[in-house]
Amino acid sequence: MKKNYYITTPIYYPSAKPHMGHAYSSIVADFFARFKRIEGYKVFFLTGTDEHGLKIQRAAENNKKKPLEFCDEISKTFKQLSKTLNLANNDFIRTTEKRHHKSVQNLWNILEKKGEIYLSKYSGWYSVSDEAFYLENEIESKEGINVAKTSGSVVEWLEEESYFFKLSNWQNKLLELYEKNPNFILPKSRKNEVVSFVESGLKDLSVSRKSFSWGIQVPSNKEHIIYVWLDALTNYISALNYPDTENDKYKNFWPADLHMIGKDILRFHAVYWPAFLLAADLPPPKRVYGHGWILSGEEKMSKSKGNILDPVEIINDYGLDSLRYYLLKEVSFGNDGNISKDKLISCINSDLANNFGNLCQRVLAFVEKNIGLEVPKIDTFNEDDLIILNSFSENYQNLIDFINNQNINSYMNFIVDQMFVANKYFNDQEPWKKKDDDKRLKAITYTSLELIRKISILLYPVIPQSSLKALNIFKIKEDEINIDTIKNNSFLKAGSVINKIDILFDKVIIND
Ligand code: ME8
Ligand code: MG
Repeated sequence: MKKNYYITTPIYYPSAKPHMGHAYSSIVADFFARFKRIEGYKVFFLTGTDEHGLKIQRAAENNKKKPLEFCDEISKTFKQLSKTLNLANNDFIRTTEKRHHKSVQNLWNILEKKGEIYLSKYSGWYSVSDEAFYLENEIESKEGINVAKTSGSVVEWLEEESYFFKLSNWQNKLLELYEKNPNFILPKSRKNEVVSFVESGLKDLSVSRKSFSWGIQVPSNKEHIIYVWLDALTNYISALNYPDTENDKYKNFWPADLHMIGKDILRFHAVYWPAFLLAADLPPPKRVYGHGWILSGEEKMSKSKGNILDPVEIINDYGLDSLRYYLLKEVSFGNDGNISKDKLISCINSDLANNFGNLCQRVLAFVEKNIGLEVPKIDTFNEDDLIILNSFSENYQNLIDFINNQNINSYMNFIVDQMFVANKYFNDQEPWKKKDDDKRLKAITYTSLELIRKISILLYPVIPQSSLKALNIFKIKEDEINIDTIKNNSFLKAGSVINKIDILFDKVIIND
């Protein structure tokens, strides 16, 4: 069986520095990428920046910079953020790269050759902030200004010569795609929005612009540049060396398993992108997941609204793993989520420091004092030991399914339960009272060490750095982590050396 997995984040606009919303999508994608790796998949994980179009051109002008110079600068901050977030991405693509130009122009040529593109004139509403066309019924007037209902972005009236993609031809094929692949669009609630949009009738899509120059030229007509979304979406295959569809990267990884995006750009990914691909005779991606928004108060956190929580500041103050844990556990995945420092702190203190961190310290201190720093040899587990140890193998398939269904919350709940149960087990078994019962004392400590190992493995996709620190107790290295080993109750070899580790999580002291 082929075990490859391709996951992507959106490529972000480098119109301003990255914020928590970008960090969120990237962390979520990284979580899935890391899980699939420890499940034994060869993973290709892509992120990057989307650098063309009027939005970027205007942002550069406002900063009195040339577009490319401006993009170089801001794209760097996104690349830096991917390092700060400890993303395990394999590539970082910029749409200003040569490899991408080649790929986009090639796709255009194919669409044109197949008669999917024609020249006409566009007149209608356009939002530069969203780089999106809107129908009359999708806009409203707010305080005398026309804005898009969904995003609240200002729209401008546009009239110019433009190439069109025959999107209307693809309506039925798209509906068939959704029908045959019921999980092509997730979550379900958002799928319905997309389906009714397509059912209501698709108009041909304007795919070129003439009135500005920052973009990729239409190969057959230098007066036009290619619509920034046709350009941007193609990144997912240019990173696989498209148009060379015979190379290993493309063959192994296309179609993508999962485009992880925010709900704001679902239409582009679930309607336009599969239509472009189908029209070019290329397979559409397998799944598009449109997650909810990180809110600031009641509003979407966004550059244009200026209500930004800076991920880098939070990481400097509380640590990366605290932020990752918090976002993955506390945001109800798929829905919008309000985030706050108070909740972040309570997560650090209760789940990470008091629960998991404390378990590791207590068990290690006990082992050191009563057995010495090595894995004890045991004869048998008793019923209590087995119930808790076996809950991992019993839930193994559920955990795999949670990940394959992007059910982050159930995955996190399982971990939180196990951390709680493991602590309770250590308390209830009272190994400190078993000094005369060597067999039980050793079985309890062995079981506790196994629990730490199993929980640390499950935590790897969530908080990789801390998980690796905890796994260092057993000298387990990153490339040795394998999810299957949570089914094994006797993974740790008697007599093998145990490393002491520093405190995993510092409690945050709250000063009122
Ligand atoms: O749309 N909450 O780029 P973009 C959660 N370049 N996620 C958020 C968020 C928030 N408040 N704000 C942003 C673009 N995001 C295009 C994409 S892809 C071929 C081209 C995340 O910089 C979320 O994933 O506006 C959203 O879809 C994406 O950033 C939009 O980033
Ligand atoms: Mg945006």
